[in-house]
Amino acid sequence: MQLHVTNSPFTSEQAELINKLLPTLTQAQLSWLGGYLTFYHGTNTKASPSELAVTRVLETPAVVDVAPKVPQEAAVLFGSQTGNAQRLAGRLADRLKEQGFTVTLSAMNQYKPNNLKKAHYLFILVSTHGEGDPPDNALTFYEFLHSKRAPRLEETKFSVLALGDISYEFFCKTGQDFDARLAELGARRIVERMDCDVDFEESAAEWINAVSGALSSAGTSPAAEAVTVSGTAVTSVTAPGQSEYSRSRPFMAEVLDNLNLNGRGSDRETRHIELSLEGSGLSYEPGDAVGVYSQNDPLLVQDIISFLGWDLEETVVIGKSGETSSLYDALLHHFEITVLTRPLLEKTISFSGNSELAELLKPENKEKMKEYIDGRDFLDLLRDYTPWTFTAGDLAAVLRRLPPRLYSIASSLNAHPEEVHLTIRKVEYEAHGRERKGVCSGYTSERLEVGAQLPIFIQQNPNFKLPINADAPVIMVGPGTGVAPFRAFLEEREELGAKGKSWLFYGDRHFVTDFLYQTDWQRMLQEGILTKLDVAFSRDTDEKVYVQQRMLENGRELYEWLQDGAHMYVCGDEKYMAHDVHAALLFIIGQYGGKSPEAAAVYLEELQGQGRYQRDVY
Ligand SMILES: Cc1cc2nc3c(=O)[nH]c(=O)nc-3n(C[C@H](O)[C@H](O)[C@H](O)COP(=O)(O)OP(=O)(O)OC[C@H]3O[C@@H](n4cnc5c(N)ncnc54)[C@H](O)[C@@H]3O)c2cc1C
Ligand SMILES: NC(=O)c1ccc[n+]([C@@H]2O[C@H](COP(=O)([O-])OP(=O)(O)OC[C@H]3O[C@@H](n4cnc5c(N)ncnc54)[C@H](OP(=O)(O)O)[C@@H]3O)[C@@H](O)[C@H]2O)c1
Ligand SMILES: Cc1cc2nc3c(=O)[nH]c(=O)nc-3n(C[C@H](O)[C@H](O)[C@H](O)COP(=O)(O)O)c2cc1C
Repeated sequence: MQLHVTNSPFTSEQAELINKLLPTLTQAQLSWLGGYLTFYHGTNTKASPSELAVTRVLETPAVVDVAPKVPQEAAVLFGSQTGNAQRLAGRLADRLKEQGFTVTLSAMNQYKPNNLKKAHYLFILVSTHGEGDPPDNALTFYEFLHSKRAPRLEETKFSVLALGDISYEFFCKTGQDFDARLAELGARRIVERMDCDVDFEESAAEWINAVSGALSSAGTSPAAEAVTVSGTAVTSVTAPGQSEYSRSRPFMAEVLDNLNLNGRGSDRETRHIELSLEGSGLSYEPGDAVGVYSQNDPLLVQDIISFLGWDLEETVVIGKSGETSSLYDALLHHFEITVLTRPLLEKTISFSGNSELAELLKPENKEKMKEYIDGRDFLDLLRDYTPWTFTAGDLAAVLRRLPPRLYSIASSLNAHPEEVHLTIRKVEYEAHGRERKGVCSGYTSERLEVGAQLPIFIQQNPNFKLPINADAPVIMVGPGTGVAPFRAFLEEREELGAKGKSWLFYGDRHFVTDFLYQTDWQRMLQEGILTKLDVAFSRDTDEKVYVQQRMLENGRELYEWLQDGAHMYVCGDEKYMAHDVHAALLFIIGQYGGKSPEAAAVYLEELQGQGRYQRDVY
């Protein structure tokens, strides 16, 4: 077939060029070009810098793998702890469905690995948690894929979207591991992996566009099916999408109350904050979190500006699209100034006249660098490595955007219509000779007045939800601020008149000063909303007592609850508590279920797979 001026929109020169090119292309090249052109059209109608970046991704030779013509099955698998990767997976699945693909959208631990070979396309969207660890609902799949049992995947084409936070040592490690392993198993990458920092929306959209563009010529089968969803359905949770407010457009929530929950004499300060959602259209479910856009400490901002001798009122660019603000507001609201990372130091090097900074950045000084950035902030860097050639206008090239902080919701919307309650513990410590405070918890403890407005969004967490069956028993382990979502759970069960039994394990330092929401639990116990409460106050006795000790003391009964279908929830510290509670659970299952350690691990994995062991840990 030849193109002519009469049967096409092209000029005779263009038609001639195309007629020359097309017969030289292989089938694979033709298919790829089809996808490329669809995407090229999309990106060139309004070529923003981010879109150009996608084009760059598409131009990378490794992207050039081609979709065949036949109807296609795509598996979109997510591993997500706090819901981000899951939400993005839903978005990709919808896009591929629109393109005519048969799509399976699934949490990794719900996906049958023997289906892997059936998928022509495999898309992995996964975050990294812990210290470079997979999220809970990715763990079994991660282990399977990295084991000897993993199948060869020569026929599979794939791409990975990795979510992470560049301030962690193992940035996006889980996504990187999947990417490398799939390639090792013979699968072919159709779009390069995209590693996303906390401000992931734009990069994730680029990746989704790139995938969609690369596939657009492949999935046009009219027989295309609706998205098959296994695991927790992305669309089943309350959609804050019904509201005009979101992560990228936060709602200014009025502060209705801000109380310290700790008694006089406590060495901790925990704020119970009530916010109004009136007029927002926002809704949430117990288990969801609120994202808070905070502000830096004004004293730290002042110190930075006066150290550099700049003018507070100078106008600086803060956004990629050229948005501006005063220097003071930019440092107060927009940029992160309390965390140092290697990429940040690398960016500052061109503004530094200090050879020691260049020395620190050398690969052989990796450990020294790690040690330096730990616990130091931007002001430390400025003071330690003078002289600087920065102008205020250079900040945008160096500092990342201040990320929002997440807080587990401590209220039920049914119990408190148009309100959301948070439990925020103040972070305070001394490091490198200076008193330091958590950005958000410092702000909410010290400067957030009743009547002020706090920019927030709702972060759905489909992986931390009450059982659908209100008769199912629930066991909740939540020391410290980890107890917050359980206030929401129990309030919700009270409102719904749920009949299921409930058991709370709570712990903190001292009974007298640190028993968060004590009167709530006591009322709920009296009224039968809470069936059992076990507490562990770690610093009231010579020997420390933690929640897991109370679990072990009640091991037989706890196992019976699990056998009766209880759902197990753990919230709070990720680093130590969650691991120790996990170990205690394994012990209890082994001891009272008469199981070997391996069988106990399988039992717990199965609970996790059934959504009966859920964790919200940080
Ligand atoms: C899903 C989820 C739910 C959460 N729910 C809650 C909640 O209900 N309540 C709550 O209070 N928090 C909760 N958090 C934690 C919360 O998001 C913030 O991380 C926390 O409030 C600290 O934020 P910040 O801005 O005050 O401190 P940041 O400015 O972020 O500082 C915290 C950092 O300071 C450093 N640091 C802290 N202590 C020390 C120390 N002793 N020595 C050296 N360095 C130290 C650590 O690097 C730490 O990461 C949750 C987190 C997640 C992900
Ligand atoms: N990722 C982040 O940015 C971030 C920010 C803020 C807080 N956090 C973490 O979130 C956690 C929650 O903080 P929190 O202030 O609400 O409470 P917390 O520090 O976890 O303390 C609550 C209770 O748990 C006890 N505890 C300590 N180690 C434990 C363990 N291994 N197993 C069981 N219980 C243990 C504490 O005892 P003792 O104190 O007496 O040992 C205390 O009685 C903190 O551990 C903190 O590290 C993370
Ligand atoms: C407790 C905790 C640990 C984390 N550890 C890492 C890490 O080791 N590496 C990393 O790149 N990101 C880390 N992150 C950042 C998350 O990957 C990031 O917030 C991501 O957007 C979460 O996506 P999800 O909601 O799909 O789980 C961590 C986040 C939390 C709360």
